Amino acid sequence: MKNTILLVDDEDDLREVLDISLTDTGYDVLTAENGAQAMSILKETDVPVVITDIKMPGIDGIELLRKIKNNNPETEVIMLTGHGDLDLAIKSLKHEATDFVTKPINDDVLELAIQRAFDKITMRQKLKEYDRNRAMYDLFINELLQEDVMIIGSDYRILDINETLLKKLGLQRKEAVGRHCYEVTHRLTRPCSGEDHKCPLEETLKTLKPTKETHVHKDKDNKNVYYSISAYPFFENGDIIGAIELARDITADINTRHAMMQQDKLASIGRLSAGVAHEINNPLTTILTTAMLIQEDIDPKSEMYAELETITNETLRCRKIVSSLLDFARQTKPAKKHHNINDIIDDCIRLTRKQAEFKDIKIQKALSEKVPELLLDKEQMQQALINLILNASDATEPGGRIEVSSAVFPGNQFVTITVSDTGKGIADEIIDKIFEPFFTTREIGTGLGLAITHGIVGRHGGDISVQSRPDYGTTFTIRLPVNRGNQDDRT
Ligand SMILES: Nc1ncnc2c1ncn2[C@@H]1O[C@H](COP(=O)(O)OP(=O)(O)OP(=O)(O)O)[C@@H](O)[C@H]1O
Ligand SMILES: [Mg+2]
Repeated sequence: MKNTILLVDDEDDLREVLDISLTDTGYDVLTAENGAQAMSILKETDVPVVITDIKMPGIDGIELLRKIKNNNPETEVIMLTGHGDLDLAIKSLKHEATDFVTKPINDDVLELAIQRAFDKITMRQKLKEYDRNRAMYDLFINELLQEDVMIIGSDYRILDINETLLKKLGLQRKEAVGRHCYEVTHRLTRPCSGEDHKCPLEETLKTLKPTKETHVHKDKDNKNVYYSISAYPFFENGDIIGAIELARDITADINTRHAMMQQDKLASIGRLSAGVAHEINNPLTTILTTAMLIQEDIDPKSEMYAELETITNETLRCRKIVSSLLDFARQTKPAKKHHNINDIIDDCIRLTRKQAEFKDIKIQKALSEKVPELLLDKEQMQQALINLILNASDATEPGGRIEVSSAVFPGNQFVTITVSDTGKGIADEIIDKIFEPFFTTREIGTGLGLAITHGIVGRHGGDISVQSRPDYGTTFTIRLPVNRGNQDDRT
């Protein structure tokens, strides 16, 4: 029924002539000689365009127009008017006639009016489709996608932006649309660039292909935040006119991957060290006792005695390294029993207080009475905490302060233990390395303390993190799960 026209006129000749010429042009033509007949045809048949005379006996053209628009507002109606019917013609336009054509009818003028009527119908369908697509599109970018979404033109101006991203930026849609993407999201004056900030749009505009980049930002604690940004090109008439950009925070994924790599590395170094350390321990003991035996036989004031003293001291240092290595490599499953972590913290402070006081550093505690008992290997946990307190004391100047605290996380799922100091802090460049075995900045350090602590906390199903500000201090936080000890078989 797409091409159908209903022609309504009481003049038989005119109906006949128009029927023939319109049929010749390619339309399916239906005819009616009065309004009533037209109405009954319209009831039966779906007709997109009606051409009707204005002046007819019975239901006249205007009345017919009103009825048609009432029943089906989408039908387009062209009015045929005689000379002097201008008033009626205007009236019909008020009732939403599509057009009017005056008699005697010029074929071209009529054809133009019919064309306009069909164009109007097509346009309305397109609009409807667009509205439907628009609703889908809104649903897609605002409801279904949890990512940040922007539609960006090839001039880098934002054409659209979703609610998720607007909320993050604290902007209204109208404040963002029309502005450059780099200005709105990065406060830059030109497109993003550089190793950690490659612009995916630029690449997509160049290659006409989807592009993916990772951006690295810093959060308020100066920690890396990683965003995966993808640009998908969109085209009009074969030309690229912009891209849809999706951004997702992948920091958690990256951190998990790092942690797993770290765990793997620690495990293999652990196995290797355990073997080597055992082999070295015996010859070291022999060197040490032999040097001491010779010392017993010679004058303590002699040069040789002093040299033997060096051998003894350095061998002792080697033994310390070996014993740390063995600690680090200890792959035994923790022997867990129920303990109150506050008691363990008290013990650790008692054991380290003297050393700290010697440097005029105060150790304070802030322990929560509410921490539940945890399944722990007391000795291992003690060693983990002592390593942290000794590091804090090494990093802190006389007059400084160390605080050890315990707290229970909301929902009772985790207990946290923090060791904070007012020391020199850890520089950004090395903070990612401090848990690695053998990483040290101290002349007499082995670099195993934190690796051991990391391993022990991991074997208790927990995790350890660090926050530091150079010149202000450092806080290590251990999180231990509550009620998981028995199920936790990680070694
Ligand atoms: N509280 C802290 N403040 C500043 N830097 C720290 C702190 N804790 C650790 N570090 C840094 O991390 C490095 C590694 O620490 P780790 O305990 O693993 O080894 P270490 O203390 O150097 O040697 P050791 O094996 O004797 O403990 C340290 O050398 C230091 O640079
Ligand atoms: Mg240490």
